[in-house]
Amino acid sequence: MQDGEKIVSVESLEKVYGTGPTAVRALKGVSLGFGAGEFAAIMGPSGSGKSTLLHILGALEEPTSGRVIVGKTDLSGLSDRKLTLLRRARMGFVFQFFNLIPTLTAEENVMLPVLISGEKAAAYREHLDDLLALVGLEERRGHRPDELSGGEQQRVAIARALVRNPDLVLADEPTGNLDSKTGSSVLDLLRESAARYGQTIVMVTHDPRAAAVAERVIFLADGRVVDEATRPGADEIFERIKTLESAG
Ligand SMILES: Nc1ncnc2c1ncn2[C@@H]1O[C@H](COP(=O)(O)OP(=O)(O)OP(=O)(O)O)[C@@H](O)[C@H]1O
Ligand SMILES: [Mg+2]
Repeated sequence: MQDGEKIVSVESLEKVYGTGPTAVRALKGVSLGFGAGEFAAIMGPSGSGKSTLLHILGALEEPTSGRVIVGKTDLSGLSDRKLTLLRRARMGFVFQFFNLIPTLTAEENVMLPVLISGEKAAAYREHLDDLLALVGLEERRGHRPDELSGGEQQRVAIARALVRNPDLVLADEPTGNLDSKTGSSVLDLLRESAARYGQTIVMVTHDPRAAAVAERVIFLADGRVVDEATRPGADEIFERIKTLESAG
């Protein structure tokens, strides 16, 4: 990977939900790029388009216009099947609600993307052990989600997102359902594991302390990028968000 090359970028992204007088313009011309190994946070008032942007970055939703480029691939015009394969090969997702399968153990949940993609589980034995150690769940690998705490469940979800070594990890409010202490340990983990495997993380969050873990914070308001900061502290983030919310 060349220096400065983007793992994912979007150009002049527009997203309109619905048609006619009830149409909602969720994104109004967003252009952004994320480099290899970068940890970026997206913040902004409720309804500003954060989840929409994340879903489009992850090829879970199509833009109304504009381009999404993953590596060297322009996603416009790719078939659903090709998009699915690209998502499985290159992306990992972490959501606010951990979305674990209740009947599977922690280990089986982590391995789910491997099974879905049709790869041999045996090839992942060492990597799985590494990941479980990294997220501190070696002793809990046989437990089902209802036997795990919220923080443990989110750690399972993070290990699941990382298991196939994606280039890009997309996280929407990964700490939204965790207390602040558990949340910050989950974030440290996300940062450490991404650093270890060289992954790019794009995380949506409402929490200035969570965003302060990222090296770059992008502020959205009303479907547009309105501000950006490099390694801002939590206090600075809090001030900027307060300004945006009072303007909105
Ligand atoms: N499927 C949909 N159909 C219609 N409108 C939608 C849909 N999804 C999102 N919207 C609208 O698009 C806008 C942006 O929504 P989005 O979910 O991206 O906001 P958000 O910044 O993630 O907000 P929050 O912080 O509350 O999660 C909102 O006005 C929302 O109501
Ligand atoms: Mg959202």
